[in-house]
Amino acid sequence: MTQKILLTGGAGYIGSHTYVALKAAGYDVVILDNFSNAHHDVIDRLEVITGAPVPVYEGDVLDPAILRKIFTEHEIAGAVHFAAKKAVGESTEIPLDYIETNVSGLVTLLKEMRAAGVFRIVFSSSATVYGEADVVPTPEDSPRSYSSPYAFTKLASEQILEQVAAADDRWAIGILRYFNPAGAHPTGLIGEDPDGIPNNLMPYIAKVAMGDLERLSVFGDDYPTPDGTGVRDYIHVEDLARGHVLSIDALTQTGDSHTVNLGTGQGYSVFDMLKSYERACGQDLAFTVTPRRAGDVPYYIANPDKAKDVLGFAAEMGLDDMCASSWNWISRRKNS
Ligand code: WQD
Repeated sequence: MTQKILLTGGAGYIGSHTYVALKAAGYDVVILDNFSNAHHDVIDRLEVITGAPVPVYEGDVLDPAILRKIFTEHEIAGAVHFAAKKAVGESTEIPLDYIETNVSGLVTLLKEMRAAGVFRIVFSSSATVYGEADVVPTPEDSPRSYSSPYAFTKLASEQILEQVAAADDRWAIGILRYFNPAGAHPTGLIGEDPDGIPNNLMPYIAKVAMGDLERLSVFGDDYPTPDGTGVRDYIHVEDLARGHVLSIDALTQTGDSHTVNLGTGQGYSVFDMLKSYERACGQDLAFTVTPRRAGDVPYYIANPDKAKDVLGFAAEMGLDDMCASSWNWISRRKNS
């Protein structure tokens, strides 16, 4: 019988790509999203990509009633929990809102899953729980810490999940620590679409390439890195989505919990990304070097070995694929 998965935050950037990947893998999928950080027309575009209606509930993971409604109306086999606030800078301004949505939202979901007899969950975590990692590439057993309220909520969520799994062996939990997601679906119909001025590097460069922003501010070129700019492990969102499918597969097949990095093991600098995006869009992109951004570190690179061992996951796409797919997506948006 076809397994049905609940995606909280499934209309968002990574959620929407994971929706497509789960459907392609033969799962049925239901989306819950409050559309606070997603546009409703994503649903229409998911229907075009998958060629089928998209079951979606508009509501908040903090609302037990809508969760009960979903678990009553659908036989849910497991959940992938994306719904969360995720802007590091914003989290320092409204920490309580981040704690309520990210931590209380997880607790509410877990309680309703337990009540419904659903015990498989994949959790969207982040490399930010490593803080300034002392080992690069960073393995999963590195010490965890937090340097922002956002990172605190991810670490707290991981520890809640660990406690829940330790107390009740019916739970099978996949904790996925994302490094730097980037890129878009090959159709160009879904991708990263932040409102306002993007915090993250690739969407900011994309807006410079579109002419919506004048130039990129390079946050420091005095880091101890090959070209002085920050180095990150960018992973194509399509690879990331596939990692979620492998995680839910593993939970279903083994019933064992896992915590893995989702990264490539390859680091790219800000200038690497800028040059790659210039190749993708066919134009020079203006930039200026500014002081470092508070909280940034020189390197964030995943050790990808455990994901390979536990899930059979390895990223397949590189920076040029990410930039080309991002340009295809963003230029279609502009012309649509
Ligand atoms: C990448 C590099 C910047 C913007 C954050 C969160 C992390 C995760 C991914 C949620 C850095 C430089 C950036 C710009 C720049 N989010 N940069 N100019 O900071 O590695 O990670 O997003 O899970 O939790 O911390 O990503 O894209 O912001 O920065 O020079 O306008 O690009 O200094 O070196 P980051 P980023």
